[in-house]
Amino acid sequence: TVLVVDFGAQYAQLIARRVREARVFSEIVPSTMPAAEMLAKKPAAIILSGGPSSVYEPGAPQLDPGVLDGSVPVFGICYGFQAMAAALGGTVARTGLSEFGRTEMQVDTAGTLLADLPLRHRVWMSHGDAVSAAPGGFTALASTSGAPVAAFEHTGRGFAGVQWHPEVLHSEHGQAILERFLVDIAGCRQTWTSANIVEEQIALIREQVGDSRVISALSGGVDSAVSTALVQRAIGDRLTAVFVDHGLLREGEAEQVELDYVAATGVDLKVVDAREQFLGHLAGVTDPETKRKIIGREFIRVFEAAEAEVLATPGPPVKFLVQGTLYPDVVESGGGEGAATIKSHHNVGGLPEDLEFSLIEPLRALFKDEVREVGRQLGIPEAIVGRHPFPGPGLAIRIVGAVDADRLRILRAADAIVRQETTAAGLDSSIWQFPVVLLADVHSVGVQGDGRTYGHPVVLRPVSSEDAMTADWTRLPYELLERISTRITNEVREVNRVVLDVTSKPPGTIEWE
Ligand code: XMP
Repeated sequence: TVLVVDFGAQYAQLIARRVREARVFSEIVPSTMPAAEMLAKKPAAIILSGGPSSVYEPGAPQLDPGVLDGSVPVFGICYGFQAMAAALGGTVARTGLSEFGRTEMQVDTAGTLLADLPLRHRVWMSHGDAVSAAPGGFTALASTSGAPVAAFEHTGRGFAGVQWHPEVLHSEHGQAILERFLVDIAGCRQTWTSANIVEEQIALIREQVGDSRVISALSGGVDSAVSTALVQRAIGDRLTAVFVDHGLLREGEAEQVELDYVAATGVDLKVVDAREQFLGHLAGVTDPETKRKIIGREFIRVFEAAEAEVLATPGPPVKFLVQGTLYPDVVESGGGEGAATIKSHHNVGGLPEDLEFSLIEPLRALFKDEVREVGRQLGIPEAIVGRHPFPGPGLAIRIVGAVDADRLRILRAADAIVRQETTAAGLDSSIWQFPVVLLADVHSVGVQGDGRTYGHPVVLRPVSSEDAMTADWTRLPYELLERISTRITNEVREVNRVVLDVTSKPPGTIEWE
């Protein structure tokens, strides 16, 4: 494993992802972790991330010099580069000057790190102070107008670093440079592949589960689909997957789970048709948060009833629930390192008090793109693996106004057209999410043929994002927008207007409710 030491910037997760894209496993650890503890993990290399703009900033996180004892190769990025330079006897000049954004970098000596790269290329900078002299024994490799020493290496000791951010897409050749360090300087083996992940997880799940049975909730989303398929591969028919059809999915999605997914994975699936129950409780409700609460509550009720049925069938005890937790959730809740902690699940109401479930979370170490790769490896259809994130409350929070069967039918039809056209244009993977929203309580006047219409507007909300925390509206080709608009207004009788949402997040959220 490669440890990515997080000095507090948002870049640590990105670095960890890039390392894995180089097929080397990586884990994020806090900069407060003592060096002895890091070294005890026997990492193949350590990467020091970016952080505050200056090592002289009051309260700047400290680098434990023990990390640089020479037993493990180390790569410093931005702040990590400066911290490394300072700790090893180089000079970090308090220039007071800053460089932010795209900067031209000049290769002075290629060394191992920058071998065969163009002598000038553009990199993404974000720093205040700069390294003015490399530590003794190091070779200075590159410079920029604001950074006399912008990269260095000491291959004998396995040390290297760059002032810029090779992990961001705006830095040219960033991935190549990271791989030079990992492979040519640190000697890492590139074995982190989806086939290996599957094999390793299956062995772990078998060990954890023993002879018990397991229950999993399938939502139709990527994470639950992949985690369920992994557990199925590991323990076969001792797993029961429960799919609650709340009637708020998009066209074809419930069928995809019931047919294509089961055909691909062979999972034992229990489908609960709860459409009437959900619609009944949602009748007349317009407040978004109330909709969410009702859906959450009803989901738990239905799931518990299904669970009780599984428990009542003869067989070994049911001790585990599958959950599709991903690595970013683990990092954000502060549990970035260490073995998977297995939380016991106490709140499964309606079950005997002394019954405890443990969680199986086979995706805890993975990023979303890795989850998709694992899903492909397991043979899950692309229509499920490549699916955009979709909110649990489904189309209920994309109908502005009360939800009923007729409105769901209208929105489903418009949404299906949007998905068909976006897929046909080959744009699925460049869009993060593409909500289609029905303004069910708004009417607008239109004209169709010779007649006046009084229909509803539909809003297109395509967004680009890395993590849904922030987002920008996606600049879709006009031709695509035109096709979508023409088809929706021709094919969905109740809709006579198609509008485009051009708001970033913040201030707008991705969903309308
Ligand atoms: P917003 O609308 O807050 O959405 O920008 C951010 C991301 O979260 C999804 N989302 C939800 N997911 N239950 C969910 O499971 C919800 O109630 C919910 N609300 C929003 C949204 O689709 C986007 O990916």
